[in-house]
Amino acid sequence: MNSTVLPSTNLIDKYGRHIDYVRLSVTDRCDFRCVYCMSEKMTFLPRNQVLSLEEIFKVAQAFSQLGVRKIRLTGGEPLVRSNILSLVQNIGLLPNLDELLITTNASHLEEMAGALKAAGVTRINISLDSLNAATFKEMTRTGDLGQVLRGIEAAKAQNFKGLRLNAVILKGRNDHEILDLLHYAMQMKINIAFIEEMPLGDVSDHDRLETSCSNDDVRRVIEAVHPLTELSMQTAGPSRYFSVAGSETRLGFISPVSHNFCESCNRVRVTVEGRLLLCLGNEHSVDLRTILRDHPDDGLLLQQTIRNAMDIKPLRHYFYEKDAPQVVRFMNMTGG
Ligand code: 5AD
Ligand code: SF4
Repeated sequence: MNSTVLPSTNLIDKYGRHIDYVRLSVTDRCDFRCVYCMSEKMTFLPRNQVLSLEEIFKVAQAFSQLGVRKIRLTGGEPLVRSNILSLVQNIGLLPNLDELLITTNASHLEEMAGALKAAGVTRINISLDSLNAATFKEMTRTGDLGQVLRGIEAAKAQNFKGLRLNAVILKGRNDHEILDLLHYAMQMKINIAFIEEMPLGDVSDHDRLETSCSNDDVRRVIEAVHPLTELSMQTAGPSRYFSVAGSETRLGFISPVSHNFCESCNRVRVTVEGRLLLCLGNEHSVDLRTILRDHPDDGLLLQQTIRNAMDIKPLRHYFYEKDAPQVVRFMNMTGG
């Protein structure tokens, strides 16, 4: 593949935001059916619409040649894609990458944690919404809590640079477990982030306006017990981090709904169909699959297409606002 680096290596959008982080969805499939992410009966993409591992690698390579230093693999559940380790290994060998991250539900982490570390994964985010087996099953519809906890322990034993739990809190479902989840993270000496549910796709399980729980409420519950100190470190994106008195755990609040941090957005996403999504909360996208299939050896064209796409990155998203565009994509299509 012809892949000489273009003259400028930075992706900059028309609002001056520097894009140095890309999230690649490697499958829309998942072994769980979390109530906020999927509907109970999902139809997944036919194989020919899904990028091959080789095509995904070309996309990762193009982004790294354009100056992206941080790549996250997401899904669906990335670890259910067959041969995913070969892709992880190849991306891990790209020069100039500072971070290779993966977001997983941990159902396959027990057996894969060692291989992921060896392939160059630096940090793992693990979804965990409940420590009660019955509630966990209700929220994931199919998940097994014991298996997930064993996966977390296996990852912990590998000493990754970072491990973080992601918890989505829904009123009336798991909002009584906020402190339990934090205490589990503190005991494991890993980080945790509370994520507000975003209105992506029609999930049919619940009315999002009834279950939606603001991170301001989550923070109040925690602060009643643990003094928090805001960390000054800059993390682009909708997250704020705190230290918890007397513990090594960093606590994050990812609040895409109640707070709008779009002005510091540094990321784009690529769906497993090869759609380059410029914003989580908008449908603006550019088709990379056609380029990959019609011009499989033209790395420069792929880079140029990605660069040009920055011009249509929207200023911000409008979740729940009046007349806001409704996003029909489910999260498993979007890549968390
Ligand atoms: N809103 C917020 N978070 C979601 N996730 C999946 N769907 C949604 C949604 N609609 C979370 C998962 C995972 C992360 C990648 O995104 O729990 O932790
Ligand atoms: Fe699967 Fe993650 Fe979606 Fe749950 S949130 S169904 S684990 S992709």
